[in-house]
Amino acid sequence: MDNSTWLEETEVDDLALYDLTRNELRRLTGDHFPADFDLEEAITAYAYFACIVVKNRGKDWETTVQDYAELAVRNARSDSEAEKIELDLLRTDLARTTGRLLDVGAGWGRFGDLYAACGLQAFFVEPFDLGCRLMRRNGLTRSACCPGQQLCFPADSFQGVVIGWVLHHDAPDVPATGLLGEIGRVIAPGGWLYSVEPLSDDFDEEKWRELVTAAGFVVEKMEIFFDMPLPENRHERYGYLTAAKPVE
Ligand SMILES: C[S@@+](CC[C@H](N)C(=O)[O-])C[C@H]1O[C@@H](n2cnc3c(N)ncnc32)[C@H](O)[C@@H]1O
Repeated sequence: MDNSTWLEETEVDDLALYDLTRNELRRLTGDHFPADFDLEEAITAYAYFACIVVKNRGKDWETTVQDYAELAVRNARSDSEAEKIELDLLRTDLARTTGRLLDVGAGWGRFGDLYAACGLQAFFVEPFDLGCRLMRRNGLTRSACCPGQQLCFPADSFQGVVIGWVLHHDAPDVPATGLLGEIGRVIAPGGWLYSVEPLSDDFDEEKWRELVTAAGFVVEKMEIFFDMPLPENRHERYGYLTAAKPVE
């Protein structure tokens, strides 16, 4: 039985679908990269996104994996370069955070190793069941399956919150204002917000700053750290923002 028939005829478990998607992406993309290029981070990310599209939007698995394989071939080198800068920025600033840290919309727990290396006690929230299961499988057990606009923590619980690649969606099920309102509630006064987003005409520097400020934070810095080339000579700017919750 081929993969498509198996998927159509079986109620496939999320983790099994994810593992199958990883294998297929590896098969479709491997020949396009030199042997010393580490493709695994890209495979992890694209397999996760492909599974979201298949599970949440009911898209056909085979077409979706093919689309993500093409994206990976085009973008994996730039993705890897951008991620190194992103991790360096976070690593530098997280050095001033002690105590408990929360990652909102943590996905599959991409920043887990970074938090451990920084000696932080990190908690993770993620609404997509696959993300929560992947975090648990990877040993990130302080994780809760819930949306960021309904955080299951008391006020002032964290010294820092990271939210990466979530706010720019700003949709009814990903409400940027609701997310930042809850984040503002659970960060203790004097604590820090660390936010990473791709910027575009729909979600630009001004909108980002306004949303963060309206939630009661004081923006410390906002910088563009990567210019991602897109087809047809377009570009996407990757931005990093830090902001403090004032001490009353
Ligand atoms: C692009 S991924 C980024 C994952 C992770 N933050 C990272 O940087 O690798 C966006 C994540 O936001 C999650 N998400 C979607 N709606 C959300 C919500 N209302 N609250 C929190 N996270 C949400 C998605 O399920 C997905 O895991």
